[in-house]
Amino acid sequence: MANKDSTDPVRMEKIVSLCKRRGLIFQAGELYGGLNGCWDYGPLGAELKRNLKDYWWRKTVQERDDVLGMDGAILTMEQVLVASGHVGGFSDPMVDCKTCKGRFRADTLEASQCKEKPSVCPGQSPKCELTEPRAFNLMLQTNFGATGDQIAYLRPETAQSIFCQYKNVLDSNRVKLPFGIAQCGKSFRNEINPRNFTFRSREFEQMEIEYFCHPDDGMRLTDEWLEERLKFYGEIGIPREKLHILDVPDGERAFYSKKTYDIEYEFPFGIQELEGVAYRTDYDLGVHEKGSGKSLVYFDEDTKERFLPHVVEPSAGCDRTVLALICEAFDEETLTDEKGKEDVRTVLRFVPRMAPVKVGIFPLLKKNEAQVGIARDIQKQLQPWMNVFYDDGGAVGRRYRRQDEIGTPFCITVDFDTLGENGDALKGTVTVRHRDSMEQERLPVDALLPWLLERVR
Ligand code: GAP
Repeated sequence: MANKDSTDPVRMEKIVSLCKRRGLIFQAGELYGGLNGCWDYGPLGAELKRNLKDYWWRKTVQERDDVLGMDGAILTMEQVLVASGHVGGFSDPMVDCKTCKGRFRADTLEASQCKEKPSVCPGQSPKCELTEPRAFNLMLQTNFGATGDQIAYLRPETAQSIFCQYKNVLDSNRVKLPFGIAQCGKSFRNEINPRNFTFRSREFEQMEIEYFCHPDDGMRLTDEWLEERLKFYGEIGIPREKLHILDVPDGERAFYSKKTYDIEYEFPFGIQELEGVAYRTDYDLGVHEKGSGKSLVYFDEDTKERFLPHVVEPSAGCDRTVLALICEAFDEETLTDEKGKEDVRTVLRFVPRMAPVKVGIFPLLKKNEAQVGIARDIQKQLQPWMNVFYDDGGAVGRRYRRQDEIGTPFCITVDFDTLGENGDALKGTVTVRHRDSMEQERLPVDALLPWLLERVR
């Protein structure tokens, strides 16, 4: 198991370069020099991220009776974030270096963050002069309304709209405790030092669940949600042995939290947080009750008890999980041919349900109209169900490699046997090539859809 300090910058560089080369992730505003801390997902990155969000939604909302979904506004009223404590206290300690003019988070000072003197600054050179740390609020503010005199904030987490709509969801859906509200969407933080590719960004997506419960159940449910979330990571291809659970000690948790687990992953730049599972007690509903002056008390019809529900919050980063999926999937395999010549195959070993493209479809020969016709028919048959890619350019081996590099788990080739040109035995069948083992098998065209659906969902 890796320790906290073990890193692999070379691997990370290769991953960042593959992401750009194959259209997974680009720097936002790159054409104009780049917008620090913001990222655009290209065609394949958008598919990957969508697969993650869809699977999270399916597992969290659609396949559970006790969790409902919502989709809240990004622009958030000042009063909401005053009540939640964000306006007053959502800050990181910041220091400036008077020598290099760099600006750093005081709690994560690292020499490499200094652009001017990477090896000596901050804090390590006699010339280096750091200011005292001061609180830097991470929220992004905007003005709106006809005269632009109203203040709103781009939400720093999706959670607050869930707390503010808790009563509306409860009253309009006739649910009983315990129940959760889940939301996936954009959040914004003016991070002092965005870094490690998409890991710490200024614009990012979260996948959050606020699970409302009786105060007696909070601790137990926190442990249960931790297990549930670990299971989820396994299902999307992040093995348990690469995840670390940090039981955040007293004194390091938010003051209102009775228990917090950080789920961390072994990124190539170190072991870092993917998700927090926090028992937030009745803090959130309490502050909004006070801030709004409206009761958020729950009445239990069975026990006739009235109380403010407690909250357990599994809060995951979508972009961080996408990055973990890519880091986990990236592999370089050395292959040796019959003549002993070595070659490196780059493969993204995504589990099929996360892969941006599920199937590559090829006619063996581009000029063979019958092969092209069947390949196009297969494409049409599969397209309503999954993302497929038709490719007729170059040798079939090269086409396989191009799909390996973007993580396509299966490739289908229509060849002479499909047409019955070598006898009837294999007529109507195609070659299915497996990305990981590179093994091939023949399947009837009619069997492809159910065979694939079983493997890619
Ligand atoms: N509602 C609780 C909350 O927002 P958090 O630990 O600040 O808690 C939850 O954020 C998750 O959101 C983190 O575990 C991380 O995955 C993701 N996240 C937070 N800040 C991020 C950033 N600047 N860039 C990318 N992801 C971020």
